[in-house]
Amino acid sequence: MSYYGSKFYDNDSNFENYMERRQGQENANDTLEKPVVWELLGDVSGMKILDLGCGDASFGIELFNKGCTEYIGIEGSHNMVQVAAKTLEGYNGMVIQTMIEDWEYPHESFHLVLSRLAIHYIQDIRSVFRRIHQTLKPNGKFIFSVEHPIITSTLQPSGTRTNWIVDNYFVDGYREQQWLGGTVHKYHRTIEDYFIALQEAGFIIEQLRESRPIRKNFISEETYERRLRIPLFLFLSGTRKK
Ligand SMILES: C[S@@+](CC[C@H](N)C(=O)[O-])C[C@H]1O[C@@H](n2cnc3c(N)ncnc32)[C@H](O)[C@@H]1O
Repeated sequence: MSYYGSKFYDNDSNFENYMERRQGQENANDTLEKPVVWELLGDVSGMKILDLGCGDASFGIELFNKGCTEYIGIEGSHNMVQVAAKTLEGYNGMVIQTMIEDWEYPHESFHLVLSRLAIHYIQDIRSVFRRIHQTLKPNGKFIFSVEHPIITSTLQPSGTRTNWIVDNYFVDGYREQQWLGGTVHKYHRTIEDYFIALQEAGFIIEQLRESRPIRKNFISEETYERRLRIPLFLFLSGTRKK
């Protein structure tokens, strides 16, 4: 049985808690995840971009502001799709409500496929990565972030933490977590698994990054020092060569 990650966000109370968390000061997405995504993206001007698990599509607007010319978001949650459709009003962008696993990816259509914090909800990444490879134009790029495998190995309730137990690291597969007042379903795999799945799909791997904190992205010294303790996110980027 596979559990769709977007289901969590269609529970109204989970959705509200998530949106509130994302807007919180010094939240991990803005201080740790987004800066690395921008470094990996580089210049997006003139690009047609596909964003898998786009959430509220607010990143689409940031991409337009940096010169992206077309944006398609794929999103499974009805709550998120409603917000994303509003966000994209007036832009050359759209959100499609479907599962990342189910969409019919058009052939050689995008300069860039992006996915921020959605791929750890997917059970079979090999088949999704193959489809992403064929939906890219030659020399197109795939960039994604996921929860760090150290975190997904042994999911623990959310909260402010200064250490993390790592267990069952090499036991890949389904995990459950109590998070923001609900139960969230994810799939754990190792760093090596992500790396190999990309290579097997045909990508030339360009970069592997972790979310090393940068002092200037934090207001508080205390939060910065706490973020030096546990890696939260993993990033990979690859290119389609032919
Ligand atoms: C943690 S949120 C990240 C949203 C956005 N990418 C961002 O960084 O702000 C994960 C999003 O992926 C969506 N998602 C998870 N699994 C999905 C799937 N299999 N198909 C489509 N969307 C999915 C969720 O509904 C949710 O909106």
